Amino acid sequence: MTTVLITGGAGFIGTNFLRYVRRTRPDWHIVNLDLLTYAGNPENLADLAGDPLYTFVHGDICDRALVEGLLRRYGIDTIVHFAAESHVDRSILGPAPFIQTNIVGTYSLLEAARTVWPDEKKVRFHHISTDEVFGSLGPNEPPFSEATPYAPTSPYAATKAASDHLVRAYHHTYGLPTLITNCSNNYGPHQYPEKLIPLMILNALDGKPLPVYGDGGQIRDWLFVEDHCEALLAVLERGRVGETYMIGGGVQPTNLEIVAELCAILDQVLPGSPHRPHGALIRFVADRPGHDRRYAMDISKIQSELGWSPRHNLAEGLRASVTWYLRNSTWLEAIRSREGFREWMDVNYAKRGVTEP
Ligand code: NAD
Ligand code: TYD
Repeated sequence: MTTVLITGGAGFIGTNFLRYVRRTRPDWHIVNLDLLTYAGNPENLADLAGDPLYTFVHGDICDRALVEGLLRRYGIDTIVHFAAESHVDRSILGPAPFIQTNIVGTYSLLEAARTVWPDEKKVRFHHISTDEVFGSLGPNEPPFSEATPYAPTSPYAATKAASDHLVRAYHHTYGLPTLITNCSNNYGPHQYPEKLIPLMILNALDGKPLPVYGDGGQIRDWLFVEDHCEALLAVLERGRVGETYMIGGGVQPTNLEIVAELCAILDQVLPGSPHRPHGALIRFVADRPGHDRRYAMDISKIQSELGWSPRHNLAEGLRASVTWYLRNSTWLEAIRSREGFREWMDVNYAKRGVTEP
């Protein structure tokens, strides 16, 4: 039996991964350590409350004594580390929590792991990272691969890059059995509505402007979150220790194309909406400072070594996301009425104004 410590399991990807593990590995004991910041939502996991193989711990990954205690008390043999400050716009307005959680927090987990697991070979420390550590691609540059040099541009990306370097150093120096995955933009159920896709769905449902940064021509690689979860489990169980794996969806639309597709789906599924055509709500607003223009992923390593490929295409994934948000309006409503959400919308968007495309 595996006893896994999931950090940040009340956030978007952590929640999806935790549920995926519960479904596919029913005998694993899951310990979820989460600080429940604005992005952590205990309601995501409320239905697991009576599960004897699920333990929730409300705490900070920076608290090393707490983490060491958990590793010992539950006999944890696997750490899957999601906990992070994850929103680029927030990192631009205030980098301090990113330094603390993403760098100091990862360091704290690594120290706890090497203290409690001095010579263990069967344990795993799986660090979840992002493609943003590689910076921005020019229009004709090849996609990011495991060999791409690090060149982070935002405070968020810089702190994730720092944490990746620390994880690699702990493997190289202390022999800690680590795995790193760098994934592209995720979307799907339970994503906090400050990120592009759920924000656009939320605003469109309310008939509010859909704020596209700059000219909307920025390109991201998009992956449906369940596909990410499947890839993570494949790497955790069959990946080579000390290695890095790229994970991505293989589709690279512009932001404007994504928003237009969401509007088309909403027009279809809500024929009686007073806000149709939803595309008329699109507004070009002031760009994000230092906005990376293009990301793309080369996923040939994980495909050939572990036989993983994404299952959902973009149209299916976007439709499934819209359906989930429509069916979970109480989840959305609860976030909207939580302290801090409206303030963030005001801080991030009020100053942007509407610009010409
Ligand atoms: P999220 O912001 O939705 O969730 C983060 C979770 O971490 C929250 O539950 C929060 O309460 C918790 N947390 C924050 N600080 C903590 C601390 N100090 N101690 C304990 N818990 C803390 O993030 P997400 O989108 O689910 O991303 C998860 C991970 O995946 C992050 O490491 C992120 O960098 C990485 N990632 C995200 C994406 C994406 O598109 N969302 C893509 C690639 C990689
Ligand atoms: P986001 O979801 O914040 O992810 P990331 O910055 O980590 O890629 O943003 C995805 C893209 O959408 C990014 O190019 C910024 C853009 N964007 C907008 O155009 N408008 C918005 O309101 C937001 C939140 C993002």
